[in-house]
Amino acid sequence: MAAPATHNLAVDGRRLWETIHETAAFGGTPKGGVRRLTLTDEDRQVRDWFRAACEALGCTVTIDDMGNMFARRSGRRDDVAPIAFGSHLDTQPTGGKFDGVLGVLAGLEVLRTLHDAGYETSAPLELVNWTNEEGSRFAPAMLASGVFAGAIAKETALAQTDREGATFGAELDRIGYRGEEPCGARKFSSFFELHIEQGPILQDEDKMIGVVEAVQGIRWYELTLVGQDAHSGATPMRLRRDALVGAARVVAAVDRIGRARPDCVGTVGLMEVRPNSRNVSPGEVFLTVDFRSPDDANVAAMESDLMAAVAEIVSDLGLEGAPVRIWDQPATIFDAECVAAVEAAAEAFGQGSRRMVSGAGHDAAYVARVAPTAMIFVPCKDGISHNEAESSTLEQCAAGAQVLLDAVLRYDRR
Ligand code: GLV
Ligand code: MN
Ligand code: MN
Ligand code: MN
Repeated sequence: MAAPATHNLAVDGRRLWETIHETAAFGGTPKGGVRRLTLTDEDRQVRDWFRAACEALGCTVTIDDMGNMFARRSGRRDDVAPIAFGSHLDTQPTGGKFDGVLGVLAGLEVLRTLHDAGYETSAPLELVNWTNEEGSRFAPAMLASGVFAGAIAKETALAQTDREGATFGAELDRIGYRGEEPCGARKFSSFFELHIEQGPILQDEDKMIGVVEAVQGIRWYELTLVGQDAHSGATPMRLRRDALVGAARVVAAVDRIGRARPDCVGTVGLMEVRPNSRNVSPGEVFLTVDFRSPDDANVAAMESDLMAAVAEIVSDLGLEGAPVRIWDQPATIFDAECVAAVEAAAEAFGQGSRRMVSGAGHDAAYVARVAPTAMIFVPCKDGISHNEAESSTLEQCAAGAQVLLDAVLRYDRR
């Protein structure tokens, strides 16, 4: 028997839906997606909006020196650590309206619902917007929650550059979001993150809620292949050292490695060809590799396979270059008590749920190192994400917000 909800509060799904569409205008694309790269003007606009929306509810908004934003609603007891929840407001270059945004705006809807009802929690609540979850402008992903959790050095994070050479720290200053509070100084009693699944499982099984108990491990690499620029007409094939031919073989190798073991994925998502001129056989290519698996041993095995494949390719083609690992986030197991709170809330909601492992990376995976943490997933259409066509329904978003509200209140009363 599902445990009944311990309150009679209901989130306003329509209000949440309108809020999602209102904020999608900051960086909105003609195809209905969102391009809101970390620390750009669009990011500043949505941050300003978010701060004002939280302050309108009487929350105090604090910004740390990585630009993470914390909106605090007092509880009856201000001497205990807050129950925190949230996600991220940055997007991929061709992102959708839901990845990250849903978790922040559903958190706002939770605060609005409590505010309207005059409901006082025992613990304070904190709604968080983490900086640079996506990692598409500044690598790696989850950069600021990584600093918060002590997994990434702050100096390293602030010195990260985008592909044009702008540093994270300078861009944080430029948009006015380098706060005073040292990142990581803040303590949570727990952290809950609602997110779209970004995969097809919930839709396929006709379940409304994913009770996320783990996040798979991730490693990222950068590789610069160096050969020689050569005239496309005058250089015979036997004299070429074409870095793009090498890169093509690396892409095929990564795809093969990702398919070779169960529950593994491998991706080359970024490539820069130099000089990128149609009548030059290219002398240099920069590319990135992303490997993931719930089993860290598989991630390590994919790394060995990559190193061997690249060594063979460069030697065959007379190139230079070896992959450099720039990020290693082992698989994360979430806290049993937080997972149980989500599961009880999902059962009380009553539209079907299942436990699952996240394929995508999330700030919650870093926060789990410093606070008991769990996640809630809702379906997205055909599992499509990191795509402007990403979509979830009003009902799915509202279900996620309702389960988030209930999980937080259950945790508050435990
Ligand atoms: C970013 O969204 C990731 O999951 O890698
Ligand atoms: Mn996300
Ligand atoms: Mn994402
Ligand atoms: Mn992610």
